[in-house]
Amino acid sequence: MMDTARRHEFRVLAAAHPQLPVLLTAGRLARRLRRVPRIGWVTSDPLTARRILNDPVHFTLLGEGGVGHLWAQVLGDWVNEIFDGPGHHQLRTRTRDLFTDENARALTDRVLGPRLALAGEQLRAGATVDVADLARVLVGRIVADLLHLPAPEHDDAYRKIFAIGEELASLALGTTASTHLAPQTVARAKAIVARLTVNIADAWRSAPPETVLGRCRELGLPQQQAEGLATLLMVAGTETAASAMARTVALLHDTGAQHRLRAAPDRLPDAVREGLRVTTPAPLIGRAIAADVTIDGRLLRAGERVLMLTWTANNAAGGFDLDRGYQPDQRQLWFGAGRHLCLGAPVARAEIAGLLRMLLDTGRAWEIRGRRYRRGVLVPSYAALPVRLN
Ligand code: HEM
Repeated sequence: MMDTARRHEFRVLAAAHPQLPVLLTAGRLARRLRRVPRIGWVTSDPLTARRILNDPVHFTLLGEGGVGHLWAQVLGDWVNEIFDGPGHHQLRTRTRDLFTDENARALTDRVLGPRLALAGEQLRAGATVDVADLARVLVGRIVADLLHLPAPEHDDAYRKIFAIGEELASLALGTTASTHLAPQTVARAKAIVARLTVNIADAWRSAPPETVLGRCRELGLPQQQAEGLATLLMVAGTETAASAMARTVALLHDTGAQHRLRAAPDRLPDAVREGLRVTTPAPLIGRAIAADVTIDGRLLRAGERVLMLTWTANNAAGGFDLDRGYQPDQRQLWFGAGRHLCLGAPVARAEIAGLLRMLLDTGRAWEIRGRRYRRGVLVPSYAALPVRLN
């Protein structure tokens, strides 16, 4: 029988897309590589996935089937230059230390600290806090800070920013079959990007060196690339992070692991890692095949596509367990691998850790009553996760 934690995780996946739990569970049968009609090649093996992600000669984001192809239509052809190939390598080399664990912690302390403290006070006073909503607000705050958007004090402003990021990301919905966007979708996305990046030109000139934009300038990134990078940070880092935050709080509750974590708060990094592994908020990664290549005895031809079921690969190890430790096969496949390994990984970890630390600091156990799952979304997550202290 499925345990409580796994049942809720399955409901989270099914609400996002009714076929997602089926694909991700049946995906195990694909193991190393299997060809599936209408999808292309599919793998749920962590080593095969990592091998593909580490092979930029034969696999690309840019062709039909990759997110690069999608974003080039919205942001412009320069994306082809910086998404893959020499331009991307240069950008990643320049931005290598844009986020470190240390500055990500400083960023989250500065930008989220006061709002988290307020949530802690509310909980201690006996109030119920919707942690799914709180996660969206917190992530919206980080985005506003990174993009130098106005920073009012009320939560609604950040819920709106989150919704804009979500709308932009939803462009990718329905692109499992094709990454060609309709002209009206491109126009809509361009309008959103223009709104989001409205302050970047100014901030670009004046942002202090310790801000992300200021650092981009000092690293020698042209303004246009900084705008593109800012947009990508927003798209890649909103829903994914909010999903992992709320789902990790739920997993700690549903497995009972919160009690052990409260007794041993130094296990926080284990809780964050396990939360990321079990939730794998970006459950699939796609690539186009750029040149014929043989993997595991299968010939993959240029122009075909491959879908890596990273959720399946990561969850093959089992359910949430604080004692599971580092898994050498999976490593941190929830952040991808190779040259496109998540640029915001330290920020994501710091966001989840910040939320958990706030809960631990209350000194009490938490309970969840009346949760709801988000329907029809790109990144599976909770619509509401009402949390109260015991
Ligand atoms: C739990 C939260 C997150 C997860 C699970 C996640 C996952 C991923 C994955 C799987 C990729 C690789 C995609 C591919 O290879 O096609 C990626 C790339 C990326 N992520 Fe994240 N991400 C998270 C949070 C963030 C945050 C908070 C930011 C920014 C602040 C961010 C920024 C990026 C960027 C810019 C890339 C593109 C890197 C490149 O192409 O070189 N992500 N992310």
